[in-house]
Order: sequence, then C-alpha cells, then structure tokens
Amino acid sequence: MDGNIATASMPRTAKERGKVAPKKLAHIVLRTLPERVDLILDWYKTVLEAEAMYQVEGLGFVTYDDEHHRVAVLGLPGIKEHVDGHAGLHHVAFTYANLGDLGHTYERLKGEDILPEFCINHGPTTSMYYFDPDKNAVELQVDNVPEDKFAEYFANGEFTDNPIGIKFDPDELFGRLRAGEPEEALLQRPDGVPPSLEEFPKN
Ligand SMILES: [Fe+2]
Repeated sequence: MDGNIATASMPRTAKERGKVAPKKLAHIVLRTLPERVDLILDWYKTVLEAEAMYQVEGLGFVTYDDEHHRVAVLGLPGIKEHVDGHAGLHHVAFTYANLGDLGHTYERLKGEDILPEFCINHGPTTSMYYFDPDKNAVELQVDNVPEDKFAEYFANGEFTDNPIGIKFDPDELFGRLRAGEPEEALLQRPDGVPPSLEEFPKN
C-alpha cells in the first residue's frame, strides 16, 4: 500500500459501520500563563462571538452555541512560552454557514485589528488563518462544496492536482461579494500557482 487514498465516495460513518464512536467533537482547551488567561479568553470571545459560561481567575470556558463550552483556557503556573515548530496541534477550524458570514466576520475582526495571517482557497474550503495571542492557529472557513458533492469533488482531480490551494486577498474577495458577485462563483478556486508550504505562517 502506498498510503494514497482517494475514494470516489465519503467513508461511511462509524455509526453506519456499526461502531461506537463519539457523537461530536466537543471543545478545545488551551493552557497559558496564568496572567494571560483573560487576554486569551477575550480573543476567543471576540473572534467567535462567544460568551463566558464560567470564568474565574485563571480559568474560563466560553461558548457561542448550545454546547456548554467550545473553548476553555486554563492558566498553569510555570507554563513555558510558545515555541514555533514543535510537533502537535497545527490549528483548529470553525466553519461558517456561508461566505457572507465569513466576510462579515473578517470585516468585524478587522475593525478590532485582528487580521488573518494567511488566506487560501484550498479547493474544498475558503480558509483564513488567524493566530491567537499565544500563536495558536485558528482557521475560519466555509465549505466551497456542498456536503453531498464532496465525494464527487475529491474524485474530479482538482484537489489531487493542487492539494494546497490558491491564496486570496480577503479585501478583494469580500469586496466582490459586497458588489454582488454570486457566492457560488467566488467559492470556486481560481487557477494559479499554489504557495509553497514554506509560505504558511509558522507556529
Ligand atoms: Fe483546516
């Protein structure tokens, strides 16, 4: 086996295969220096339009939907500062309902001086990568392809030809959306040269 898997259909869910698996991905928990807990929580509240479910000195949980917490931050004495380039979690991603909501969020965060580090149309998603104040990467994205068309998309060769994507300028993209270009057209990945992996912001 060469390790390459490109199926023409979505794998069946674990449930469909008769397996007991988690029913959802619940939350992420970040650790930071105790004096930075509020700063990090504030960042997630702002970025995700979240509110505190529970917050005391050195610990807090926030949520933006009906889950009791989506992001928690824990202050741990003696924790070391972030260092780039270590194995582990690369980013967490949050999906918006449509490109309009993603554009609204981009503009809102720009007004708070929170800007993405990197914007790329991967093909299956239109994605903006932000860094929180501890340099954890957070991807805000929309799906470019309806769920029932994903298998078809992965079989059509576009992603195999360029599994990285094409960078985009968010001011230009969301400007075109505001000017009335249809969302379906703007979600199409343009032709072009993919960035090298070296261009991705390091964390
Ligand atoms: Fe991602």
